Amino acid sequence: MGRFERHVFICTNERPAGHPRGCCREKGSEAIRSALKSELKRCGLADVVRANASGCLDACEFGVSVVIYPEGIWYGGVTLEDVPKIIERTVLNGEVIERLLIRDPRYAPAQRQYPILPLPPKRV
Ligand code: FES
Repeated sequence: MGRFERHVFICTNERPAGHPRGCCREKGSEAIRSALKSELKRCGLADVVRANASGCLDACEFGVSVVIYPEGIWYGGVTLEDVPKIIERTVLNGEVIERLLIRDPRYAPAQRQYPILPLPPKRV
C-alpha cells in the first residue's frame, strides 16, 4: 500500500469581497476541510487518505469545490452535512454521489464506481 491511497482536495482559495468569481472560502471551505480531516481521523483513515487544502481549482462558480484523486471525482456545492457521506460513500466505497457532481461535462467522472478503499489493519 502506498503512503496515501486517496487525496481529497478542498479549495480554500480566498478572493476579496465582491470579486465577480467569488471564492470557496467565503462559502465555508475551511470548516469543510477541518471536518473532512476530523472524519478521516475518526474513521481510522488518516494514514491512507489525505484531506488537503488547495488553491483555486478553477471551478469557482460551483464551490465549495472538492476533487478526489486518483479517480478525479469533482464535487461542487459541498456543505458540512455532506462530509460524512463523502467519506463513507466515495472515499471508502468508491461510489460517486450523483447529487454532488459538478453539472458541467468538463468535470465529469470517468466512471460511477471505483475500487473500495483497502482499509488499514487497525481501523477503529
Ligand atoms: S475559488 Fe474555489 S474553485 Fe476557484
